[in-house]
Amino acid sequence: MPPRSNQRKRVLSGMRATGKLHLGNFVGALDNWVRMQDQYECFFFIADWHALTTDYADTSEVKANSLDVLLDWLAAGLDPERCTMFIQSHVPQHAELHLLFSMITPLGWLERVPTYKEQRDNITEKDLGTYGFLGYPVLQAADILMYKGDFVPVGEDQVPHVELTREIARRFNMFYSGKRSYVFPEPQPLLTPAAKLPGTDGRKMSKSYNNTIMLTDPEPVVRQKLKTMVTDPARVRRTDPGNPDVCPVGDLHKIFSDRPTIAKVDVGCRSAGIGCIECKSWAADALVNVLNPMQERRKKYEDNPRLAWDILEAGSSRARKIASATMDEVRDAMGMSLDYPPLGNARGAK
Ligand code: TRP
Ligand code: SF4
Repeated sequence: MPPRSNQRKRVLSGMRATGKLHLGNFVGALDNWVRMQDQYECFFFIADWHALTTDYADTSEVKANSLDVLLDWLAAGLDPERCTMFIQSHVPQHAELHLLFSMITPLGWLERVPTYKEQRDNITEKDLGTYGFLGYPVLQAADILMYKGDFVPVGEDQVPHVELTREIARRFNMFYSGKRSYVFPEPQPLLTPAAKLPGTDGRKMSKSYNNTIMLTDPEPVVRQKLKTMVTDPARVRRTDPGNPDVCPVGDLHKIFSDRPTIAKVDVGCRSAGIGCIECKSWAADALVNVLNPMQERRKKYEDNPRLAWDILEAGSSRARKIASATMDEVRDAMGMSLDYPPLGNARGAK
């Protein structure tokens, strides 16, 4: 178990239970989480209820997806000795807090969340006209405020959700807090320095674009995907000079290659001194270097998934303790503690 510390600031973040992770998830979030483990008191959780907001009709994969996310976390270097990993649905207090927050959250706040409109427009194959989908950010606010974290590391797209969380905290405090004490501190988003990771087609790497390199892709698959990756469109022939700054492969180099290789690519590409095939093989080398140790680490848990799940159970139990204490405070503040109500003639009569 990670040591409790009063000095370290608390960080909390989550990922939806979407299954195996790709390099974009790693560069955009996970890599950052791994580095935070020693600097902050970290809580990372798998948002399996959030996965239901879009995948409610078929829940057969949710659990396997949660396990896959967990395996990739452990593979990437999240360490149960240094952070707490848990699963949302095993901490039912999130649902209770979500319910209470739903009472005080104006509909207009939710309808204005940009991801809400975007997703409803973009995901047409599912009916997202549900109560749960609209309430997605309210559940997220419950996730976050439950642990009274200082920081929430997220990508840019999630910042409005953290903003809404702050507004819900403020509103709760306004309604229910005592004169000198308030229940919820307002958390700050910790914006992940966004090195945009292009997928094999040059667009942002995303599961829905089918352009991903998975953390679990074996070396031959990585090399094959690199071979078909798009390059600077201006470089049609081997003799045409190119520009690594507009080439997705150039972007990969900037994120994963060492300085000498980046320099070699820059000079070679601009002078047509190197070919794209060669350049791509160097990028593949760099990726394989990053992925190999992860896949090595993942193996141990793949062979014994019980080991991984036990880590999640231990983390969930730890999370439940904190959540239970928070809910006591919340009920207290709302005058709805589990104690006896004023009995007999206590009401009014002095
Ligand atoms: N909405 C987040 C995402 O899609 C996942 C998430 C759920 C989350 N609850 C959270 C992130 C709480 C940070 C904090 O990435
Ligand atoms: Fe892209 Fe490399 Fe080809 Fe230049 S040489 S266009 S950086 S793949």
